[in-house]
Amino acid sequence: MNYYQQHQSEFLEGLKTFLRIPSISTLTENKPDIRRAAEFVRDDLKAAGLSAELIEGEGNPLVYGEWLGAPGKPTILFYGHYDVQPPDPLDEWKSEPFDPTVRGSDIFARGAADDKGQVYLQMKAVEGLLKTTGRLPVNVKFLIEGEEETGGEHIEEYVLSKPPHLKADAAIICDTEMFAPELPTICTGLRGMVYGELHVRVGEQDMHSGVFGGTVANPIMAIAEILTALKDRDGHILIPGFYDRVQEPSAAEQRAWKQLPFKAESFRQNEARVLELTGEPEQGILERTWSRPTLEVHGIRGGFTGEGAKTVIPAQALAKISMRLVADQQPDEALEQLRGAIEKARPKGVKAEFKFLHGAAPSLVDPDNEYIRRCAKAMEEVFGHETVYIRSGGSIPIVGVFQQALGIPSVLAGFGLPDDNLHAPNEKFHIPNFYRGIEAIILFFGRLGA
Ligand code: BES
Ligand code: MN
Ligand code: MN
Repeated sequence: MNYYQQHQSEFLEGLKTFLRIPSISTLTENKPDIRRAAEFVRDDLKAAGLSAELIEGEGNPLVYGEWLGAPGKPTILFYGHYDVQPPDPLDEWKSEPFDPTVRGSDIFARGAADDKGQVYLQMKAVEGLLKTTGRLPVNVKFLIEGEEETGGEHIEEYVLSKPPHLKADAAIICDTEMFAPELPTICTGLRGMVYGELHVRVGEQDMHSGVFGGTVANPIMAIAEILTALKDRDGHILIPGFYDRVQEPSAAEQRAWKQLPFKAESFRQNEARVLELTGEPEQGILERTWSRPTLEVHGIRGGFTGEGAKTVIPAQALAKISMRLVADQQPDEALEQLRGAIEKARPKGVKAEFKFLHGAAPSLVDPDNEYIRRCAKAMEEVFGHETVYIRSGGSIPIVGVFQQALGIPSVLAGFGLPDDNLHAPNEKFHIPNFYRGIEAIILFFGRLGA
């Protein structure tokens, strides 16, 4: 029995301690917890035998750690995030979101899969190797951030400034999902994003809907009108020029995707759990999430939603809107196009302003490199199945920046499962995947160092 097999229950206890910290990056009241989570990662890396420190700047602290005792061998940069999404709606959780609870072979908690469980498995793989052999087959750096769920603005600035100590040969990121429970998966593409708020204003104060109704605009109607002008009923985005840079997936990708064990009906029933799948009819379901952009509204605020009836025309309303982008779309350009389309669709009598919150470029990784090949082989050894290559509809802003600023490929080796409930109530991580992830990284390192 080796070190990490002997220490499995200890590793799981450590993960629980990490998961108990409510490091929610979107809420100001959780700032102290953000710091505690950063310090937890730093201290744990130190205990494992790395040097580690917090990098303090304007945003939430970055954790940087390194072990560079393998001169002449490749350098791997681990990336992950210690921040999590808010846990609401709270009453839908079967156990408390920040009281990690094992049921069956899953551990339930906010951040279990996204991304604490997956960050922690990277840390434990390195610890396991250092404690048993006293060294690592490769050089290792860790860069763990606390703002991923809010757009990762400060890490982006930091990496773009190209600090010399970030030099590496490849990044490895465990923050994605496997295509199916038994299929080791490497993700080769992520969507980018533009997120912001549409502020609509009619006048200075709310108005009596009888006294003024019929003579003034309604800001909620205006939002509805603008939204319907931006997307048609078949899911096509109507913003002029929006699709100009959208690339079709390569022939090799299209072939690979056709081989995947995918059933639209099972995706509808077991993963999306919706009445019906909708969207661009001429696109496949995988294509709709992996290689096509989106425009979504996440929430609308305005007017009266309390008990009973109130006859009011609100003075203002707001909608949270995002666009997911695919290669080669650019956030700046898509933002300008959106603003132009909003202005054109704006009905008479309202002011409409789109306030940009955050953006990220889409990323495509060429899987033809030794890091991805060796990682795929290592995962095959652990899972006993051939590795599949997929894209994902989600976004991890830093991937594009690693490519652009550091010139390195990212190995997106995720151990989450499609039903892990990321960002939703009852988020979980499949405990066997926690251990398999540790093992896969250890085998990957062995192959890299050989
Ligand atoms: N880990 C996810 C992204 C992800 C989810 C990739 C599932 C692949 C499969 C990440 O933490 C995330 O949620 N990102 C946000 C980024 C946004 C706030 C810029 C997202 O995709 O909404
Ligand atoms: Mn994540
Ligand atoms: Mn997330």
